[in-house]
Amino acid sequence: MADRVNITVDGRQLAVEAGTLLIDACRGAGIEVPSFCYYPGLSLQAACRMCLVEIEKTPKLQTACTVPVMEGMVVRTTAPGVKDARRGMLELLLGNHPLDCPVCDKGGECELQDMVFRYGAAESRFAEEKRHIEEQQWSPVVYFDAPRCILCYRCVRVCDEGMGVGALRVVNRGARSEITPNHGDHLDCEECGMCIDICPVGALTSGAYRYKARPWEIQYVSTPCAHCGDGCKTTLSVRGNKILRGNNRDHSGVNGEFLCIKGRYAYDYIEHPERVKHPLIRKGTQWAEATWDEAFGYIAARWKAILAQSGAAEEVTQEAFGVIGSNHTTNEENYLLQKFARTVLRTNHIDHHRTADFPALMAALANQAETPLARANDLGQASAILLVGNNLTDQHPMLAWKIREACRLRGARLYVVNSRRIPLIQQSHQFLPVPAGGEPAVIAWLWGDTEAERALTSQTPGGEAVTRERLQAFRDSLQAEQSVVIVFGAEIAGEAVPALVRLGEKLAGRTRYIALADYSNSRGAADMGLLPHLLPGYRPVGDTGARALFEQSWKCSIPALPGWSREEMVGGVRDGKLSALYVVGANPLKGQDPAEYRGRSFLVAQDLFLHETAEAADVFLPAASAYEKSGTVTNTCGELQRLRKAMDVPGTRTDLDILSRLAGAMGSTGFLTRTEEILEEICRVVPGYQIPLAQILAGGAEATLTPGRAAGLAKDGAAKIESANDTLFTSGTMGRYSRILGLVPERETRKAAE
Ligand code: SF4
Ligand code: SF4
Ligand code: SF4
Ligand code: FES
Repeated sequence: MADRVNITVDGRQLAVEAGTLLIDACRGAGIEVPSFCYYPGLSLQAACRMCLVEIEKTPKLQTACTVPVMEGMVVRTTAPGVKDARRGMLELLLGNHPLDCPVCDKGGECELQDMVFRYGAAESRFAEEKRHIEEQQWSPVVYFDAPRCILCYRCVRVCDEGMGVGALRVVNRGARSEITPNHGDHLDCEECGMCIDICPVGALTSGAYRYKARPWEIQYVSTPCAHCGDGCKTTLSVRGNKILRGNNRDHSGVNGEFLCIKGRYAYDYIEHPERVKHPLIRKGTQWAEATWDEAFGYIAARWKAILAQSGAAEEVTQEAFGVIGSNHTTNEENYLLQKFARTVLRTNHIDHHRTADFPALMAALANQAETPLARANDLGQASAILLVGNNLTDQHPMLAWKIREACRLRGARLYVVNSRRIPLIQQSHQFLPVPAGGEPAVIAWLWGDTEAERALTSQTPGGEAVTRERLQAFRDSLQAEQSVVIVFGAEIAGEAVPALVRLGEKLAGRTRYIALADYSNSRGAADMGLLPHLLPGYRPVGDTGARALFEQSWKCSIPALPGWSREEMVGGVRDGKLSALYVVGANPLKGQDPAEYRGRSFLVAQDLFLHETAEAADVFLPAASAYEKSGTVTNTCGELQRLRKAMDVPGTRTDLDILSRLAGAMGSTGFLTRTEEILEEICRVVPGYQIPLAQILAGGAEATLTPGRAAGLAKDGAAKIESANDTLFTSGTMGRYSRILGLVPERETRKAAE
């Protein structure tokens, strides 16, 4: 246990860990010490002097944010001199402050306003004219009003230390000091809005939210972000039936402080004018609006006819139906979709866009005793992080933030293996550049395959040579680490995954893993069995025992032969081999000409927008977005979180509702229709989901388990594992329809991956 020291604050005896800052010691005991510039996790600035306290035997007031506790320290936080100092500092801060609280965007949630109410400075001795500077727009989302700035430097530090971007700095000195962006009058940055969030006053405001609402008009709905696989909790500010703002107000999610541009602003795709709000049935080359009953009846009639043609109910209708699911729909919807495919449409042709090889990872970890999957916060506890492939800054911004934090605050060492010069190299302890696609060869070499060396010493990014000495130094340093989290992208798939796990087993201490999947419920899609060869919980569909487990629960038989992959199903439509394809929340024809697929098989698409796949379809069903429904999602680290509904879009239905009704139209009974009931079933029957739900229902996150040591966990060597390589400013189909993502100029300068 860490050494403790005894201090007295306002007459109270406190025993505090040695080295703790006095401000934290006081706050930990519920004793208020005001501050502006102090911010946990950022470097000390000592700029605002709001935290002054009296410490016995020191001649002057001291800043509690810079003084560590010492044995026997006697502190007074409410002495008359302290109160005078606070009042004086506020008077100074207000000297040039515009006092426009009634029209300021921060009014009602401003730290300066709160401090003035609490500590005074009702009158000012400054009679001079205030120095006015026009408000500046630094980017579509960042506005700066210099006179409101109190020069706490939080924005500068969060951008520099937290984001690793360093787009803000201070120019001039004294009363003329001013925050300025990196390109003179505008920003070129990640547009994350972290500087806006952290600004204690209304100096930095959001282009997406300003002047839209007052805090007291708002209802707050905390729900996971709908974009990448990191699962950040976003607090949505909702008024009426409209989302006005996203931030991370309560810091309660796995992301803590952090949100990237997508989580903060890119919920706006849901209100794009091209959002479809009626079912559509194709009549020739045109769409005709239909009622939901007409659409369900039409689909069911076509599907029943195909089923009738395809043989006896117990036979696998391999060439009849295909189903492609989503990386964004909830666990409950995914679970129901694969159950629907297997029991109603009688097919194992079910898949989704796979961006991480979870099946191979689960198979490779099946024999490990301790839970070897890392949670997001485990990155902060490890002595080292081995990052293989992926560009986290673009594709997993929150995990990149956690890694920077681990390196900065706890001295974790980052080892990077990549064929690109990714931004996280700045934080790395060692970087091993490899030729494109060379990541598996590094793993093989580190594991002891000397043959792999030849593949590594060819071209590398920027012409850097990987010598044997460099490989050895990398390996020796890594092997000396006591606890490593291995984070890997789609570059490591198939046979490379067990090789990586074998390497992990060779490392000293405990090794844990994070497989990086692209989207908000990519992990849940795999866990729930949107896979042609695996049932929920990665149980092989060809395994009689595994099938029996689910058949018992579903009271229905399951076809035994593994089905087709997503790519095979798309080929099946093109070649006319598949009679019907049902695509839920996905666009497998992205970038292709819909006309080449139209009319070849009966295609039903269910989504928000008429993307390429929808344009090839016979029926389109307009679905609700992640912000318009409840359920659960599982982030790429396997943390289960609850999705909370923020609003409705009339005319749409949740995927769960649509599925239940389609099941009914097909004459199927026994399909659960309530999210809670389906979640209960998942927790009962899906290996890995036997976890307590109290934390999730209360808005927290709970780690799912590895599916266990069951015999027959299968890996799928033929699977196509491919990341969409989204940038910070793209997000698959949703990114195309986000106004904010379309507005920021950085989208063009960082190659879009749509
Ligand atoms: S938006 Fe983000 S990256 Fe840009 S200046 Fe603010 S903190 Fe820095
Ligand atoms: S803009 Fe806001 S966060 Fe930045 S220094 Fe000024 S008051 Fe502090
Ligand atoms: S890091 Fe990912 S989950 Fe978090 S806010 Fe950004 S897109 Fe959303
Ligand atoms: S909080 Fe201590 S000087 Fe600003």
